[in-house]
Amino acid sequence: VLRAPTLALDLGNANTRVYHPGRGVVVDEPSLVALGGSDRSLIATGSPVKAMMGRAHAGVIPIHPLRHGVVFELDATERMLRAFIQAAGGGRHPRLLVSVPTGTTSVERRSVEQAAHSCGASSVTVIEEPLAAAIGAGLPVERPLGGMLVDVGAGITESVVVSMGGIVTARSVRIAGDDMDEAIAEHVLSHHGVAIGLPTAERVKIAIGATHTWRGAATMAVVGVHRASGLPRRVTLTSTEVSHALEPAVRAIVGVVVATLESTPPELSADLAESGMMMTGGLARLRGLPERVANETGVTVTVSPRPDRAVVDGSGRCVEEPRFLAAIAR
Ligand SMILES: Nc1ncnc2c1ncn2[C@@H]1O[C@H](COP(=O)(O)OP(=O)(O)OP(=O)(O)O)[C@@H](O)[C@H]1O
Ligand SMILES: [Mg+2]
Repeated sequence: VLRAPTLALDLGNANTRVYHPGRGVVVDEPSLVALGGSDRSLIATGSPVKAMMGRAHAGVIPIHPLRHGVVFELDATERMLRAFIQAAGGGRHPRLLVSVPTGTTSVERRSVEQAAHSCGASSVTVIEEPLAAAIGAGLPVERPLGGMLVDVGAGITESVVVSMGGIVTARSVRIAGDDMDEAIAEHVLSHHGVAIGLPTAERVKIAIGATHTWRGAATMAVVGVHRASGLPRRVTLTSTEVSHALEPAVRAIVGVVVATLESTPPELSADLAESGMMMTGGLARLRGLPERVANETGVTVTVSPRPDRAVVDGSGRCVEEPRFLAAIAR
């Protein structure tokens, strides 16, 4: 018999969220941790570390411990999780419900479980991230009716068709928001000869990033290091040039959605033509992305009202209503 978890955890590449039954989402922080350079003592977790990225001296090591939806640095992940669980009031031995991407290997899944156990968790239940997102976004996942969910986060894009409490078709690609930040930084270096940091590139993406489908126009000035002179240099970027830089990542995301539709059985396909697809994840807010996906598939796209909270909202619902968990946990 499954005892109800005491906390639900979305260990995202960019953001970690923790749901506490009765209190809701109690932690929503960047997945970052800063450790001391000499003794690896804990210096900070979450948002304070965001300001340190690219700015720390040798005595402080800011770490981004999760990459492409999986644990990249186990020790740093544990330190970060321990702090978040404590902040969530999870007690010393919480029972955790943790979501993992659908494409994860058993080794990757074990590293998530190991990190959770070494934080003191007395049990770890794993659910599939896009299924949690579908529940969080309010899709009727239990019914014998096809529903489609596309989650575009920082490290991974996942696309699934769900019906009767399970995933029928799943496709994913480890390309998402972080790759766009890198593409913007590479563009600014190759076209303007100026090196900018990834945090600046992310600000550009959020402020003026778009797909070609977007009809607006915007500009933004950034400062970086001029490669030829080594001096600070200001450049003004346009949304058009940024959308060119983002195009390969956008194509990869569209490709995953198309591949999912191609392998969906006909009855479910007919349901999707009717109901459309739901988009979640922080990147669902990129200007023109939902429209681009809709244009290329002919299927309508709805963005969930709180797209980056959908996974943890859905896991939270599973904690609150064990019938959901019984239906989907594997
Ligand atoms: N308004 C916005 N426009 C464009 N991108 C955005 C916007 N807001 C957030 N993002 C991007 O969304 C991504 C974060 O989304 P989210 O929090 O869903 O990811 P995550 O769950 O941490 O990652 P993953 O699911 O891949 O492990 C980041 O790349 C961030 O820059
Ligand atoms: Mg996510």
